[in-house]
Amino acid sequence: MKQEIEKLEKAVLEELKKVSSTGGLKELEVKYFGRKGEFTAILKGLKDLSASEKPVLGKLANITKVKLEKAIEAQRHKLEGSALEKELDTEFFDTSIPGKTPQMGHIHPLSQVQEEVERIFSQMGFAIMDGPEIESEYYNFEGLNIPADHPARDMQDTFFIQDKDDPKHGHMVLRTHTSPVQIRTMEKYGAPLRVIIPGRVFRYEATDASHDTTFYQVEGLLLDKEISLSHLKGVMAEFLTRLFGAPVKVRFRPGYFPFVEPGLELDFSCLICNAKGCKVCKNTGWIEFMGAGMVHENVLKAGGIDSKKYQGWAFGFGLTRLVMMRHAVSDIRLLTNGDLRFIKQF
Ligand code: DAH
Repeated sequence: MKQEIEKLEKAVLEELKKVSSTGGLKELEVKYFGRKGEFTAILKGLKDLSASEKPVLGKLANITKVKLEKAIEAQRHKLEGSALEKELDTEFFDTSIPGKTPQMGHIHPLSQVQEEVERIFSQMGFAIMDGPEIESEYYNFEGLNIPADHPARDMQDTFFIQDKDDPKHGHMVLRTHTSPVQIRTMEKYGAPLRVIIPGRVFRYEATDASHDTTFYQVEGLLLDKEISLSHLKGVMAEFLTRLFGAPVKVRFRPGYFPFVEPGLELDFSCLICNAKGCKVCKNTGWIEFMGAGMVHENVLKAGGIDSKKYQGWAFGFGLTRLVMMRHAVSDIRLLTNGDLRFIKQF
């Protein structure tokens, strides 16, 4: 059998030299290595050898097979290479044509600022939460101390979803603010709690340069023992200072929101005029920024929190408005209408 293997090896190498097309190569492969090939027959015969011959001849057969396969592959490369050369010789290919630059996108300015807000609050120990955009009336209003007949319902015009009543929580609406996630988070995690909730919200609005039916907010909620509004002042001054990269002061004004008591509005010092008074801050030195307050007892109750043990504050600001202030965008609709001439500037 040893001679047989050597004879075949020689024969294959000889024939290989003469093969001049990939078709011929295929034929050669079938002739020797196909199912009924001559070399295959030898491999099949190995099993009938005696125990002493088997390892020696088996090894030889395998080494030869690998060697021949390599030789066949090398020949294939050669044949294919010359075929390609022939094609390039006959076909005109202009190598001086400039390539096509792939279109590169980038992160949307809204997402850029959202990521920055998340980073700063994460550094201060806040977790990032999320909630559904289609929300029940219960979470959007009642749970937040805004009963159905309360005049405060008029503060937020709402989109209702037809025929989609939740048996436990009433009509379904497109959430008008991120505040409902406060209750969902309290229910799920209890106290203490330190979270922000960025998200998309919807209002039934007539659109103009400063109003859109869809925009983004960031909600904040901190619950713990012995929490006061001074903590809110400190956190917000620190947040805005880190965001703008310059010292920012904040001030409180009284404000009304049904889900906080006391409620307040937070302004920050105008960075454009250094709080001296300019067009942007309407000569007041202050920019109105967000609503906030101490979380109302009824809201804590809705969230299953023991208000004797824990208290805290919440806030909500417009992420969309923040982006507009940051980049001096004059029309809110530019941020979501998909016009690349606008988006490419960021
Ligand atoms: N949800 C309010 C709005 O959309 C904003 C807000 C005010 C959120 C006060 C709060 C808060 O958490 O305490 O107008």
